Amino acid sequence: NWTMVNIAEESIEAIRRQVGDRRAICGLSGGVDSAVAAALVQRAIGDKLTCVYVDHGLMRKGESEQVEKDFVASTGVDLRVVDAEERFLTALAGVTDPEEKRKIIGREFIRVFEAAAREISTEGEVEFLVQGTLYPDVVESGGGTGTANIKSHHNVGGLPDDLQFGLIEPLRALFKDEVRALGEQLGLPAEIVWRQPFPGPGLGIRIIGEVTRDRLDLLRDADAIAREELTRAGLDRDVWQFPVVLLADVRSVGVQGDGRTYGHPVVLRPVSSEDAMTADWSRLPYELLERISTRITNEVREVNRVVLDITSKPPGTIEWE
Ligand code: XMP
Repeated sequence: NWTMVNIAEESIEAIRRQVGDRRAICGLSGGVDSAVAAALVQRAIGDKLTCVYVDHGLMRKGESEQVEKDFVASTGVDLRVVDAEERFLTALAGVTDPEEKRKIIGREFIRVFEAAAREISTEGEVEFLVQGTLYPDVVESGGGTGTANIKSHHNVGGLPDDLQFGLIEPLRALFKDEVRALGEQLGLPAEIVWRQPFPGPGLGIRIIGEVTRDRLDLLRDADAIAREELTRAGLDRDVWQFPVVLLADVRSVGVQGDGRTYGHPVVLRPVSSEDAMTADWSRLPYELLERISTRITNEVREVNRVVLDITSKPPGTIEWE
């Protein structure tokens, strides 16, 4: 794809001119935007770029490994992983309110990222922050650019005043499909390039009720089955997003194996959408829904019921919290 080769080369050249031999950091979220932005900057300035991945323990099955191993293997990026699961779970203990969960996760994320940035800065001053801002984000936020303390955007927002960075935003002119094409061009793993949008607060807002490690493990297992079967059915690219939600505070009676169970339901929430502003529930084939339901109830301990969310947005949102 010649266009993408040109975009990649021009962008790498522009980053080199902007950064020279100074240092940059980039926060990886596991999503395609930050991954492609980091890969471009790595090509431009090599080990003058340090990436930080805050593992908050709220990712889906296999996602952290894809960042820590496959992404690093395909890009050669210098990656620091911060294992912050314990810290996030402690901060979330006892919390059930959706907005409170979001606030806590956002706050802890900034604190952990900031600490990592400071530590990296002690090895030599860091002057730039890489962000995976896309063209639609630019339009939405009024088109401003600059050297500010990072606009409040997704996960990385509002770093304190004494951490000043210039911004490197190599994807500012691109749409999502172009970013994916660029990611393929740069040789990133398909799992990252084609990943569905995933909320910053992760599975923390897909557990209705308190977030605990056991519940996360349970949801990770159910979610992995749904994703696996969707892929097997060849329908990955027909579905915008496929949240699986654990109703952790609800129990219902079931019968499994030799007897009565009293377990939790999970909700399947496949949606089709153009931009997440509106969405419709996906009409997945019954055979696929059946396979997902059978496998989840057979393989995931404590889940004895699978229900399908058939609400469009509006009135429902895509996520349950
Ligand atoms: P809703 O649930 O509002 O979600 O219909 C719209 C889109 O936004 C994603 N989402 C988030 N993304 N941080 C993010 O980066 C968040 O806090 C967040 N909350 C929701 C959601 O997955 C959907 O794609």
